Amino acid sequence: MSSETWIDVAAIDDVPEGDTLGASCRGQGITLYKVEGEVFATAGLCTHGAAHLCDGFLDGFEIECPLHQGRFDIRSGKALNEPLTEDIRTFAVRIDGGRVLIGTD
Ligand code: FES
Repeated sequence: MSSETWIDVAAIDDVPEGDTLGASCRGQGITLYKVEGEVFATAGLCTHGAAHLCDGFLDGFEIECPLHQGRFDIRSGKALNEPLTEDIRTFAVRIDGGRVLIGTD
């Protein structure tokens, strides 16, 4: 049985199309992304340093870190280039009543 809990983190209309929104989930920073109307969520901080990915540049399904230009695939969390050596955590996303819900365990 899944122990997943869904946490309300933002209004879907607050997540800009083709861009990012910094949010908080249980006191932990996360970054939300909207691409072609679909919302994705990752941890808020880059795995290489303490850069906030919500300040990065979103290009399609790739977020580029603002500090050293490391890129992650926001769908899988996969680290795509140097200097990144570690993937980033992603979260399941559900939309309910115009709200963005993040799955946590
Ligand atoms: S802090 Fe993100 S690539 Fe270095």
